[in-house]
Parts: sequence; structure tokens; C-alpha cells
Amino acid sequence: MTAQPLVLGIETSCDETGVGIVRGHTLLANAVASSVAEHARYGGVVPEVASRAHLEAMVPTVHRALADAEVALADIDAIAVTAGPGLAGALLVGVAAAKAYALAAGKPLYGVNHLAAHVAVDTLEHGALPEPAIALLVSGGHSSLLRVDSLADGIVPLGSTLDDAAGEAYDKVARVLGMGFPGGPAIDRAASEGSVTIAFPRGLTAARDLREHRFDFSFSGLKTAVARWVEARERAGEPVPLAEVSASFQEAVCDVLTAKAVDACRTSGITTLVIGGGVAANSRLRALAAERCARHGIDLRVPRPGLCTDNGAMVAALGSQLVAEGAAPGRLDLPTNSAMRVDVITV
Ligand code: KG4
Ligand code: ZN
Repeated sequence: MTAQPLVLGIETSCDETGVGIVRGHTLLANAVASSVAEHARYGGVVPEVASRAHLEAMVPTVHRALADAEVALADIDAIAVTAGPGLAGALLVGVAAAKAYALAAGKPLYGVNHLAAHVAVDTLEHGALPEPAIALLVSGGHSSLLRVDSLADGIVPLGSTLDDAAGEAYDKVARVLGMGFPGGPAIDRAASEGSVTIAFPRGLTAARDLREHRFDFSFSGLKTAVARWVEARERAGEPVPLAEVSASFQEAVCDVLTAKAVDACRTSGITTLVIGGGVAANSRLRALAAERCARHGIDLRVPRPGLCTDNGAMVAALGSQLVAEGAAPGRLDLPTNSAMRVDVITV
């Protein structure tokens, strides 16, 4: 095997069929087929629809990634696949495909954690991650603060959401505002046209909450506050100012996320913060994190938006890290785990 492993990564935990190819920390291909349009009319991802879409997209997406990277399956040194967390049926499609490719081509197989992959993807943009680092992971299903001692085998949870994930809050508030699914990009766009005029609550930031939940999040109170505010407007027969509500909601989310992430860095004396997950694509989160990190001398790393949302390159990036650090591959009968814990990196 070369010093710089060539790794193919497969991602099917939700509604994106992603196949990425990396060599070391270099991104060679990132083919993504999304079934998001098929779910939009239901207002959320329908698991069975997602599984079927993965099945149809899997082989063409692998072929596209190999063609984009200009490599053959035989050239690949290892295959990595998301084993969890995610939708059970959707995960099974990716893992079954990865096993088939690994067996057919005689390649080692790594079943990896989707959440750790959201952190690892930053290495494709900014090179090796200084360890330890603090990671803020904000996606549709998870919001966590983590201490990353090692991407390959040392992720320590510091806190997580007690209720809704950050992306889930975006999606639910977008539904209240009639903006469609997924809500994050729509609210991000609407917010850019408005200013922050409404003081929405910042969950778990009061002194009494900080004692027990310093690095935890809660977004359900915020979501309810937005819904109440909108209802009151509608009852009064007044128009709902979408841009102002979006900007004010977004400010509340990004304020809490960045304040707690910076606090985690300062408390631990760690000077690298990496942000990953779909919500890391958010323009305000990126700007506010940059501002606050600069003020406190923290080196901020956020991958470009296209690498923040689900993709196969992130899985390949984590696989590449595992291969480079000599981690043992998984077995060909490795399981999926739809509720995989954030600190379990491989199965
Ligand atoms: O990481 P991801 O693609 O899938 C999961 O692992 O969940 O994250 C999807 C989430 C959705 O909730 C979506 O609304 C949110 O990321 N999202 C955003 C933005 N782009 C995607 N949230 C806020 N601003 C964005 N620009
Ligand atoms: Zn994700």
C-alpha cells in the first residue's frame, strides 16, 4: 500500500447517496445523488423512499466517482462506509454495497461513524486536524460539542442537544413559516434579506442551566417561541415578516452554538475549533464563528458548504485517516447501527 492511501467512501445514512474518493487528504471525487426532491412534498425524509432511491443510485454513483477520480476499483486501497447513525434501511443499502465491492475487489472494509466523518471531512480542505481539537457537530439529527483527541480513536462527547438538533429546528421553523423542506438553506436565504428584530430565547444559557448543561443545547423552546410569535401575528391578521423572523431565529441558534463552542475551547485551553454537519453550511454560523474565534485567538476550521452536507468524501476522509493510523479493518459481516454513539468511530 502506498503511503497515501486511495480510499473510496460510501454514504447512505439519510437522503443523499454519496460516493467520494480521496488520496490521503486530497479530494479526488465527490459524487452525490440526492432524493431530497422526492421527500419535499412530505415535509421530511420518508425512510422507504430514501432506501429505494439509494438502491437505484448506488452503482451509477460509484461509477461516476471512479470516472471523476480517473481511477479503477482495482486501484482503491480501502473502502469505508457509513455504518451509523442514520435510517436503518438506508444504511443497509450502503453497507451491503460496500461489502459487495470490498469482497469482489478484495479490499479492506471500514464501517465508520457518520458523525466522526462530518468532522474528518475538514482534513480535505485544511489538511491534518491538530489534535486535540474541539468539534461542533450540527446536522439534521445531531448537535454535539466534542473533544477530538484523535479522529481515529479518541472522540469525547462534551455535550449534546437535549431535544431538537439544530438542523431539525431549522426544518421545523421553516415548516411553520411555509418555506418547504429542507428548511436550513431557505431560512439562511430569507434571513439575508432581513434584520434581527425579535429577541427569541437562547436555550440553556441562563446561569442555573450552565451549571449542569454548560455544553448541552436545547432548541425546542426556541422553535415553540417562533411558532407562538407567528401564530399571534396571524391571529391579529397581520402579515408575518419572513425575513425578520428568519434572521432573528437564525441569530438565536448561531449565538448559542458559537458561544458554547468558544466556551468549550477556552475552558479546555484548546485552540482549534472545527465545525461540521449540514448546519455548518449556514452563512451566519460561519460568520459569527469566525468573528468570535478571531476575538479569542482560536483557529477556526469549517469546510466549504458542499462538504458540510452529507456526502461520500467525508466517509472516505475518515477512512483515509483510519488507514493512515493503522486501524484494523472491519469484518465482512459488520453490522449497521442506526443509533451509533458519537464516540464509537468504527464498528
Ligand atoms: O449533515 P446533514 O446533511 O444531514 C444529517 O446528517 O442530518 O444535515 C442536514 C441538515 C438539515 O436539517 C438542513 O436543514 C441543514 O442541515 N442545513 C442548513 C443549511 N444547509 C443545510 N441549516 C442552516 N443553514 C444552511 N445553509
Ligand atoms: Zn450528516
